[in-house]
Amino acid sequence: MGTAGAVLFLVLSCLTVQCFSKYEPNWKSLDSRPLPAWYDEGKVGIFIHWGVFSVPGFGTEWFWYYWKGYKDPAFVKFMKDNYKPDFTYADFAPMFHAEFYSPGQWADIFKAAGASYVVLVTKHHEGFTSWPSKYSFNWNAQDVGPNRDLVGDLANAIRSKTDIKFGVYHSMFEWFNPLFMRDQANGFRTQDFVKAKTIPELHELVNKYKPDIVWSDGEWMASDDYWTSKEFIAWLYNDSPVKDTVIVNDRWGNNTRCKHGGFWDCSDHYTPGKLVPHKWENCMSVDKNSWGYRRNAQLSELHTIEELIEQLVTTVSLGGNFLINVGPTAYGEIAPLYEERLRQMGSWLGVNGEAIYKTHVWTHQNDSIAHNVWYTSKSNSSQVPTVYAILLSWPQNNTIHLGDPIASDETKVSLVGYPGYFDFECSPSSGMVIKVPAIPVSRMPCDWAWVLRLTYLQNYKTKINPDAYSDHVEPIPMMKEPFV
Ligand SMILES: *[C@@H]1O[C@H](CO)[C@@H](O)[C@H](O)[C@H]1NC(C)=O
Ligand SMILES: *[C@@H]1O[C@H](CO)[C@@H](O)[C@H](O)[C@H]1NC(C)=O
Ligand SMILES: *[C@@H]1O[C@H](CO)[C@@H](O)[C@H](O)[C@H]1NC(C)=O
Ligand SMILES: *[C@@H]1O[C@H](CO)[C@@H](O)[C@H](O)[C@H]1NC(C)=O
Repeated sequence: MGTAGAVLFLVLSCLTVQCFSKYEPNWKSLDSRPLPAWYDEGKVGIFIHWGVFSVPGFGTEWFWYYWKGYKDPAFVKFMKDNYKPDFTYADFAPMFHAEFYSPGQWADIFKAAGASYVVLVTKHHEGFTSWPSKYSFNWNAQDVGPNRDLVGDLANAIRSKTDIKFGVYHSMFEWFNPLFMRDQANGFRTQDFVKAKTIPELHELVNKYKPDIVWSDGEWMASDDYWTSKEFIAWLYNDSPVKDTVIVNDRWGNNTRCKHGGFWDCSDHYTPGKLVPHKWENCMSVDKNSWGYRRNAQLSELHTIEELIEQLVTTVSLGGNFLINVGPTAYGEIAPLYEERLRQMGSWLGVNGEAIYKTHVWTHQNDSIAHNVWYTSKSNSSQVPTVYAILLSWPQNNTIHLGDPIASDETKVSLVGYPGYFDFECSPSSGMVIKVPAIPVSRMPCDWAWVLRLTYLQNYKTKINPDAYSDHVEPIPMMKEPFV
């Protein structure tokens, strides 16, 4: 073969095996993969923490560790008062009946909530797999407890009834797995647990359920090298059945949060307060104190719908996605109060979704004069350029002065979900003074936050000032005390 022939051969074989698009197992290469657009456009996800911990339903989904690891007096006493002395954590598993679990009903609730994606906990730090894993003998939902594939049943229901994307949460480590504890005792110089458990499980989950998200957690005790995370993600991006559509988060080793991977979760309930120079997610829970269901939760410990909408709005204004968690009961129900919160969020999105889905950040994130006003924007060549001003509280009197939008001759102001246009004046100092008519309560488009649609502003195009970025993107340590 001549030189030209060799080059041609190389090019053709590259095209067929796609050698130019292959990702290599290093962060420079993996981080260069563009994030699938559906994730940023979707904005809102539902997180589901469900497992054996839902059976005691006491304190936190970290129940086992608080009881046997921290030996927290409240947890030790709870067990002493309510269970026989020789009761073990494994004894909770047969009590995980999930007898009312109706994945189709869950799918309907998530659709009504306005969710674009769902992330189901398939294995938490307790190690119990909610799917019949080949790598979790007798500690999985098929062999003990529900006697069914909780993961597959939800994936099927969501995919057959809705257009919601299906994601899996997976904990890399397990508190009390002897293989993990041995690797840890060896200073993570052995990888028996990773080879026997973490990586085979991840492959099994991906091959079996073809998730749209692999949401990793439980990574913080060891590095990405120990977990072989880069090798796994390279397989996920190059060769897996979801290589073109899947997205991952950033929890792949003690050196990766807020640095590497797909979208960044950084810490739980990450609220940077400013823009972040990367796609990020605020994962939080309706229950302020727990991700898993707590039978002892008090009403005051649950977020109100006003609080949830404020979190949703500020998160999206700052370029994040909002992942809101509910913890179902051991009997398989999303308890009515949690269902109500989700449906309330969905009713708000049903009216105001145009200010959330498929939006992008604007030049200003919150208004410089009016308090509690947050911006999103929408403008591409096929759309009317629009800036949305989201008012977390209704104006005190019949005007609102917004400091940042600059009207053009074509600008119109309307309330999303309400007919007609509002009058306004260009403020002599800056911005616009908008006249808000007295709207009868019965004709209010929604109950919690109101959206002004501002079209054809002079300054509709997003221009980000470098000062708008958070300089603090380091993760906040999530462990209360060293984990030994
Ligand atoms: C990360 O984990 C590795 C073990 O894999 C350990 O040697 C290293 O000290 C850890 N780094 C930090 C910053 O904790
Ligand atoms: C806008 O948000 C920032 C950061 O949360 C805050 O410091 C500032 O006071 C807000 N502006 C107004 C006018 O409320
Ligand atoms: C512009 O927005 C419309 C409506 O959201 C959308 O269908 C279209 O794909 C967008 N075009 C581009 C180039 O982003
Ligand atoms: C209307 O309320 C805003 C604060 O919400 C205040 O700045 C403004 O002076 C008030 N205007 C009148 C006419 O009371």
